[in-house]
Amino acid sequence: MSVEKTRICVLVSGGGTNLQALLDAQKAGRITSGKIVLVGSNNPEAYALTRAAEHGVDSFVFTEEAALLDKLAEEEIDMIVLAGFLKILSPNVIRAYEGRIINIHPALIPSFCGKGCYGLHVHEKALEYGVKVTGATVHFVNEIPDGGQIIAQKAVDVLPEDTPETLQKRVMEQAEWILLPEATEAVAAEIRKGKN
Ligand code: GAR
Repeated sequence: MSVEKTRICVLVSGGGTNLQALLDAQKAGRITSGKIVLVGSNNPEAYALTRAAEHGVDSFVFTEEAALLDKLAEEEIDMIVLAGFLKILSPNVIRAYEGRIINIHPALIPSFCGKGCYGLHVHEKALEYGVKVTGATVHFVNEIPDGGQIIAQKAVDVLPEDTPETLQKRVMEQAEWILLPEATEAVAAEIRKGKN
């Protein structure tokens, strides 16, 4: 097998702690089948862009999906990881990367997911409902928001004194930052098999 790795683009919209977990996992040798070569954002203010720069990873900001598709082609991207990317991709992009886009969602799908359910809102809804267990899910992206095949899930306890912020932090620490690098490596390994 040749050594060519799966070329990964991570899309972000905000703080980028999940991007950080991916970059740390790569550095620690827990992501070896793929290489994060590009970070893209719809938000020029995203702190995630600073994290990319600190790790020497190229980044770009886009407003139009046509520009995104051009850049993905130019950089020969094989796989896309949505790490706190809060826009819904159009069928155009999804079809171009079918089976090669994964997303992290901060709840146990099919709970607290779908259009409009993202970021802190997810945890507000979980607390409002009164669930005692929540968690995170990594799934393939298809044309239904949060509706693609589930790759991995991890449960996290909800505590009586939780606020949306404390719950978000626990779900990130105990589930998201572990699951996303693991799933990225697993999917990158599969894509790499097809590449080499
Ligand atoms: C994360 O909790 C991620 O799971 C969530 O946004 C946050 C981004 O944080 N994504 C969604 O809600 C997608 N539906 P980060 O920028 O620090 O990684």
